[in-house]
Amino acid sequence: MKKITIAIDGFSSTGKSTLAKQLAKHLGYVYVDTGAMYRAVTVFAMKHNYISEDHLDKKKLVDSMPEVHLHFEFNPELGFAEMFLNGKNVETEIRTLEVSRLVSKIAEISEVRSRLVEQQQKMGKNKAVVMDGRDIGTVVFPHAELKIFMTASPHTRAQRRYDELLELGQQVTFQDVLQNVNERDYMDTHREDSPLVKASDAVELDNSGLTKKEQFQLVLSLVTERVTA
Ligand code: DC
Repeated sequence: MKKITIAIDGFSSTGKSTLAKQLAKHLGYVYVDTGAMYRAVTVFAMKHNYISEDHLDKKKLVDSMPEVHLHFEFNPELGFAEMFLNGKNVETEIRTLEVSRLVSKIAEISEVRSRLVEQQQKMGKNKAVVMDGRDIGTVVFPHAELKIFMTASPHTRAQRRYDELLELGQQVTFQDVLQNVNERDYMDTHREDSPLVKASDAVELDNSGLTKKEQFQLVLSLVTERVTA
């Protein structure tokens, strides 16, 4: 069967990764969570005190980017690949609300973006990949055979993220999570380099009222159309 590239973009906490993981598993494709890469760079910057709530040393971070080595390692128990930064598993660290608060500032830096985009293009060069992020269908793989643009109301998304964080044992309030969702929407759509925008040939999927199963079936039918085209 024809191998394709599947690009999934959209706002934060729209369930992109859930859908991407389901698709990758079903199709035997590689799943790449590009948000995890921006988050890992954020963890690196935090560790070196290049970033905090009120400060960003962009030059130092950009100069140290050659020291940032990222790779994914498939964890068969979890069924997906975990993020490693300089040989250390940072999968838990990158999901904290603190990282979520700072990551948009890192994602604004063009030099960081170009490095990560280059790595993402390498990871997907043989197709048979499901990649999720903000700029996959517009910048990373503008010729992807299937592009999905996911949306859902901010309230629905904040509730999902809040439930996830509670499950991870983190102490957060719903209001903080909602505020973070709104702030990231603003920054994702207003940054100069590669802002979040729906590619003209992307299929828009508002999943506020869809179950995960319904959503999966719907996207799977789009995949079938593309692989048999
Ligand atoms: O998908 P996520 O919430 O884990 O992404 C974390 C941040 O990284 C998000 O605020 C926007 C940024 N990002 C990006 O700018 N481009 C991507 N391809 C993926 C994520």
